[in-house]
Amino acid sequence: MLSTFLLPLLALANINVSASPLAARSIAARSTTPVVATWYAGWHTTDGFPLSSISWDKYNTLYYSFAETTQNGTSLSLAASDGEMLPQFVSEAHAHGVEAHIAVGGWTGSVWFSSSLATAKNRTAFVQTVVDFALQYNLDGIQFDWEAPNNQGIGCNTISVNDTANFLAFLQELRHNPVAAKLTLSAAVGLTPFFNATGSPSTDATGFANVLDYVAVMNYDVWGPWSSTVGPNAPLNDACAAPANQQGSAVSAVKAWTDAGMPVNQIVLGVASYGHSFSVPPSNAFMSDAKTLAAYPAFNASNQPLGDAWDNTGSVDVCGVYEGPGGTFNFWGLIDNGFLTKEGTPADGIHYRYDTCSQTPYVYNETSQVMISFDNVQSFAAKGEYIKNTKLRGFSMWEAGGDYHDMLLDSIIDAFGCS
Ligand SMILES: *[C@@H]1O[C@H](CO)[C@@H](O)[C@H](O)[C@H]1NC(C)=O
Ligand SMILES: *[C@@H]1O[C@H](CO)[C@@H](O)[C@H](O)[C@H]1NC(C)=O
Ligand SMILES: *[C@@H]1O[C@H](CO)[C@@H](O)[C@H](O)[C@H]1NC(C)=O
Ligand SMILES: *[C@@H]1O[C@H](CO)[C@@H](O)[C@H](O)[C@H]1NC(C)=O
Ligand SMILES: *[C@@H]1O[C@H](CO)[C@@H](O)[C@H](O)[C@H]1NC(C)=O
Ligand SMILES: *[C@@H]1O[C@H](CO)[C@@H](O)[C@H](O)[C@H]1NC(C)=O
Repeated sequence: MLSTFLLPLLALANINVSASPLAARSIAARSTTPVVATWYAGWHTTDGFPLSSISWDKYNTLYYSFAETTQNGTSLSLAASDGEMLPQFVSEAHAHGVEAHIAVGGWTGSVWFSSSLATAKNRTAFVQTVVDFALQYNLDGIQFDWEAPNNQGIGCNTISVNDTANFLAFLQELRHNPVAAKLTLSAAVGLTPFFNATGSPSTDATGFANVLDYVAVMNYDVWGPWSSTVGPNAPLNDACAAPANQQGSAVSAVKAWTDAGMPVNQIVLGVASYGHSFSVPPSNAFMSDAKTLAAYPAFNASNQPLGDAWDNTGSVDVCGVYEGPGGTFNFWGLIDNGFLTKEGTPADGIHYRYDTCSQTPYVYNETSQVMISFDNVQSFAAKGEYIKNTKLRGFSMWEAGGDYHDMLLDSIIDAFGCS
């Protein structure tokens, strides 16, 4: 159901798309329209989530993911994302009054960001690459998903102590381009501002606030199979957790970014329609009462469970390194695999705990010894409330295809939009 607040917002989006001379507006004068967004993973087009499955009428922005950086900086690659679908994605978005953006980079596609922005000459070339790409596909916006400046991501990214300074210089040059001046520019970012030359979060993000329309904080993967214990994938808060378990949250991220000068209405909260799984023996899974699930139990890292049908048993990544199963369960995958009912409630025989600090749920199958921390309708409602009360710009969900019958999406829209 379309909530009422979305109607004027969609009308605005329509104007934005059809009548473009919003040109050369200063960032301060730019739209403050709420962002109701999702990332569309291009590679799932042919894997159960075609364009026709998108609930276009509930969003005003979609990011096609990903155009990956390339070694020569003069092109972006859609090879891993069924790029042949991008033109249809854009025309369907526009037919629904939705802004169509490209997300550039991503976890596997950020290898050549640093080198592409390393010198003035390379930055100028990359500005042209991005602008040409936007024109070629008739895009309304570009999102930079660099994971992450001066902070090695997947393991073989080009990297420099000057990454954050070069990123800002690039964005300033891009903003001066007459085509890019009309685009919505954003960045998908971590829980703290970009790293400065000594590898600490920058204390001043005002330069980025002046050139980006907004940042989308990727508040997920905070805990996962790489962590030392089970923990929340997407904590709303962690100030209430023991100090050792304060690994970041929506609350800490908003504080870190606003302390560095990013206005709250330029912060979009990234939310997750998936969770991470862990192999936890029953001896670790419960509190001493043997009924309540433990909060941060140890897990068996040598026994990563396979996730849902979108997971795979393992593959070689862009760095040439073999990676086993990710263990990710989308919200629909939790239902498919018997953890949740079709109503999104815990299935019979499944242990359940809602962590009131992180405001996220856990499920546990004692027989298979699989524990999953994820998001449900209740945790999405808590995040929507937080966005409304904190006056953030909106939300974006990774990923569009993770939801089940829009249960999560409807929950966060209702909480965010209906005061
Ligand atoms: C740049 O790389 C892309 C693919 O990564 C290739 O298609 C293109 O021809 C290359 N351009 C130049 C000038 O080398
Ligand atoms: C600039 O880009 C070229 C490719 O066009 C690349 O070979 C070179 O390494 C880049 N410069 C730096 C300093 O990374
Ligand atoms: C970083 O930038 C400074 C100032 O522009 C420059 O002197 C230095 O050589 C750069 N370092 C690297 C590793 O690119
Ligand atoms: C980076 O940030 C840290 C922490 O705020 C600060 O101590 C350091 O001086 C900064 N380094 C640079 C090069 O700005
Ligand atoms: C962890 O899993 C591996 C692989 O299944 C298994 O061989 C090992 O016994 C497990 N360790 C514990 C402590 O259960
Ligand atoms: C728990 O896991 C076992 C073993 O994989 C499976 O047979 C059972 O159906 C699962 N329980 C539920 C409620 O899904």
